[in-house]
Amino acid sequence: MFEVLKLKKVTADRGTLIVGELDELLPYQIKRFYYLTNLDSDLPRGFHAHYECRQVAICLQGSCVMHFDDGKNKQEYLMSKKEEAITIEPYIWHEMHNFSSDCILLVLASHQYDESDYIRDYNVFLECLT
Ligand code: TYD
Repeated sequence: MFEVLKLKKVTADRGTLIVGELDELLPYQIKRFYYLTNLDSDLPRGFHAHYECRQVAICLQGSCVMHFDDGKNKQEYLMSKKEEAITIEPYIWHEMHNFSSDCILLVLASHQYDESDYIRDYNVFLECLT
């Protein structure tokens, strides 16, 4: 349903450096990034799947809970480690819940923003899988 990609973490007295070599981590090129901030624990986000766009999410600060659903099974993952990237693949319904007040969620995407690539109706999502 999703993968947890481990990023390289270099810890030193001067601070922590976390790095992702995209050619090694991802079998596609990144075309876009966006990040979510000023989030509210009572206002979950997402509630969609994509037809084509492939994404990875990294929680840069704080925490949130990712909910994944492939139409048959549901899984949750607590995002709280800066050195982890979580894959969000096409035809995976995903929601982000329980944002900590300091949460910053970075998302890297394989495609430019295109509203027609979104499946925002859960019943349409289920129909797409049959
Ligand atoms: P939306 O995808 O609905 O956010 P979420 O699923 O996290 O709740 O996006 C919110 C708004 O921002 C919506 O009007 C579309 C716009 N948007 C862009 O213009 N470009 C982007 O890359 C993204 C992700 C959203």
